Amino acid sequence: MSDEGKPKVINPLPGPLDGTCSVPGDKSISHRAILFSAMAEGTSRLTGVLDSSDVRASIEAVQKLGAKVSLEKQTDGSLAGGVEGWGAKGPVQPDGPIYCGNSGTTARLLMGVLAPWDISVRIEGDESLSKRPMRRITAPLMMMGVEFDPAGAETLPITERGCKRLRPIKYNSPMASAQLKTAVLLAGIRADGVTELNEPSVSRNHTELMLPEYGVETTAGERTARVKGPASMHSAEISVPGDPSSAAFIICAALMKKGSAVQVENVSLNTARTGFLYTLERMGATVETRHTGSAGKEPYGIISACYTEGLHGCEIPGHKIASLVDEVPVLALVAAHARGLTVFRNVQELRAKESDRLDAIVAGLAKLGVDAWTEGDDLFIEGQPGLQAPEGVVFDSLGDHRLAMTWALVGLTGNVPVAIDGFECVDVSYPDFLEDIERLSQ
Ligand code: S3P
Repeated sequence: MSDEGKPKVINPLPGPLDGTCSVPGDKSISHRAILFSAMAEGTSRLTGVLDSSDVRASIEAVQKLGAKVSLEKQTDGSLAGGVEGWGAKGPVQPDGPIYCGNSGTTARLLMGVLAPWDISVRIEGDESLSKRPMRRITAPLMMMGVEFDPAGAETLPITERGCKRLRPIKYNSPMASAQLKTAVLLAGIRADGVTELNEPSVSRNHTELMLPEYGVETTAGERTARVKGPASMHSAEISVPGDPSSAAFIICAALMKKGSAVQVENVSLNTARTGFLYTLERMGATVETRHTGSAGKEPYGIISACYTEGLHGCEIPGHKIASLVDEVPVLALVAAHARGLTVFRNVQELRAKESDRLDAIVAGLAKLGVDAWTEGDDLFIEGQPGLQAPEGVVFDSLGDHRLAMTWALVGLTGNVPVAIDGFECVDVSYPDFLEDIERLSQ
């Protein structure tokens, strides 16, 4: 009988997590490698690309637009191979809409990719993506000359018609969003002059680090990124390091499961992404990093973590949130095990992710008897050292991969099984999550 539609039962791990593992390629870097290679002249060579439904949405999008993708599955589960871009001749008019599935990164970055071309493309998404805000991207692109239909649309579906003579802009972004920053910079590559984006706090900088590999110079200050157009893009060789956002689940599991000691290798140590380690350290966790190399300008290395007794709550300031934005759900679960109060400041962006993650965290922790609440833009969690899940808890993933993995850790590191509705959404970023973490406990 098929288990489809039934909640997935997650059983406690048989023992502590012990040993060394690696995690799949970084999702943000994988999307960028596919999209930038599609924009470039010639054939780029990519290795370590994440094979997940989100990245597949980007692959399918660029194929529809005329790029030739010959990525193949490798024995380690990653994708590697070539992407032949459209270069100066531009993308072709696709014969139907481009469906981005659950992938906000595909939809939003694509708007920047399409900006300089005189084609008309309808961009669609699944139910969750069709609720997520798009005005933040369309507003600056419209200032550059791009047309959207409907012009004032807040959400997908939206049809974009690019503009061959894009105007460069200086844009003060209302939020720290790397997706917004990237869409504007990608459009700026073909605008005539310097396009500049300022953000209220530092968001991930993979675009600024990767564009020079394709021959596009960028200047990046603390909260400013610039690109000078018009510039042409040549092919590149990109190797994608492991995803710290996926590693975070293994690291946090080790901190919560007695006796554990793990090392995650070849994982990105880009500081715009490792804010979760800063937070865990401040909670008293035993975590360490060691740089072992760099892929282009992206540093990578090893993260190690051991079970830590006596974790304590802490306050995470608003300016740090962008560096740990995708890790708030799993950090909230760790905070639920810690002594005292944890406060995440200015986490309003979590309401606009694959689900309303603030409401989901509060509701999920309530099932464990943990007091968590929001006040304005802040999230509060009153920890309970020694926390154990009651029997029979069923969590709803809300179709959100990071929630599915967070609630899975309750079952994996606890004493009783839990069930998760819609667990299969882990395919968005980490399809083998369960197998990888179970392997560390044998
Ligand atoms: C991403 C940026 C972040 C992050 C998302 C991936 C990216 O979103 O949450 O998972 O690849 O640029 P925002 O740009 O909305 O902050």
